[in-house]
Amino acid sequence: MRQAGRYLPEYRKLRGDRDILETCKDPSQVVEITMQPLRRMDLDAAIVFSDIMVPLAGVGVDVHIEPGRGPVVDTPVRAERDIERLRPLEPEQDVPETLEAIRLLREELSVPLIGFAGAPFTLASYLIEGGPSRTHERTKGLMHGDHMAWDALMRALVAIVVPHLRAQVEAGAQALQVFDSWVGALDRDDYRRRVQPHMSSLFSGLVDLGVPVIHFGVGTGELLGQMAITGGQVLGIDWRVPIDEAWDRVGHDRAVQGNLDPAVLGAPWEMVERKTLEILRRAGGRDGHIFNLGHGVLPDTPPDVLARLVDFVHAETERRPA
Ligand code: CP3
Repeated sequence: MRQAGRYLPEYRKLRGDRDILETCKDPSQVVEITMQPLRRMDLDAAIVFSDIMVPLAGVGVDVHIEPGRGPVVDTPVRAERDIERLRPLEPEQDVPETLEAIRLLREELSVPLIGFAGAPFTLASYLIEGGPSRTHERTKGLMHGDHMAWDALMRALVAIVVPHLRAQVEAGAQALQVFDSWVGALDRDDYRRRVQPHMSSLFSGLVDLGVPVIHFGVGTGELLGQMAITGGQVLGIDWRVPIDEAWDRVGHDRAVQGNLDPAVLGAPWEMVERKTLEILRRAGGRDGHIFNLGHGVLPDTPPDVLARLVDFVHAETERRPA
């Protein structure tokens, strides 16, 4: 999940009013922002500061990120020729700053570093809608209306995402997370027909790297079984499904990550504690549970509550017999 972000005053100060995509092109700032949450909290891993839109900007998509809104694409992908413009990513040339930041981070970090990318469906939604969408109407329009164009777009995105993830591992990332944040908008049949084949080719492009891959989405309760078949040693679970039920759905040969509702961090501490204990109880101290939020930290979250949560989870899990 997002570790850095607007809930940290030191982050807001450093970021100022610049477009986040500009900040992502400054390796020393990327290193600093990645380190910020680790100075406040006893976290077990770090995620490189970047955004899922960075590799798309790298191949020349005219994207910017509007604060409080999200990624906006000025010339949305609506026709065959728009898809043809999406060339494969050449990481050392297109996203050199992210790779440089990863190399620098490995020298500074004492915890594992996670690299990441957006998944094709989630990236396609921003590209086709031209911005954030609640309904993903145009995206589904293309997906249902023109299978050839849809598959061409998914393939073009796989040819951006796979080199991006591979290059992050080659630069030093020790695990990967694939964010298919909006794929929960699909039913199981559409997922299976229109997304899964492309996700399978994405995961097969990573197997020889030998690093664990976390496969994450929001609102994916009904897709979890299918997503697990598709790939990932770890499945990211949002808060809508109790983690033990989610684990049954993905299978106990996989690890699970989750799944506290980020909004609970705005509640009184007793509630944070109660909800956290419930997750730990359901995970049952089994190997392969990565405690995390079910989605990113919300901007109004008090940093002290997050730090206290990290310590609380450590204390509670140490107390448990292995
Ligand atoms: O340091 C870290 O924790 C890694 C940071 C990270 C960012 N984006 C930085 C960021 C990660 C892992 C992402 C992934 C990302 N970006 C996703 C997948 C994860 C998810 O949340 O579902 C998605 C869908 C995006 C697209 C995106 N970028 C959105 C929806 C937004 C929020 C817009 C807003 O203002 O509400 C962004 C901007 C963004 N990316 C922020 C951060 C910290 C916040 C805005 C800023 O600081 O300028």
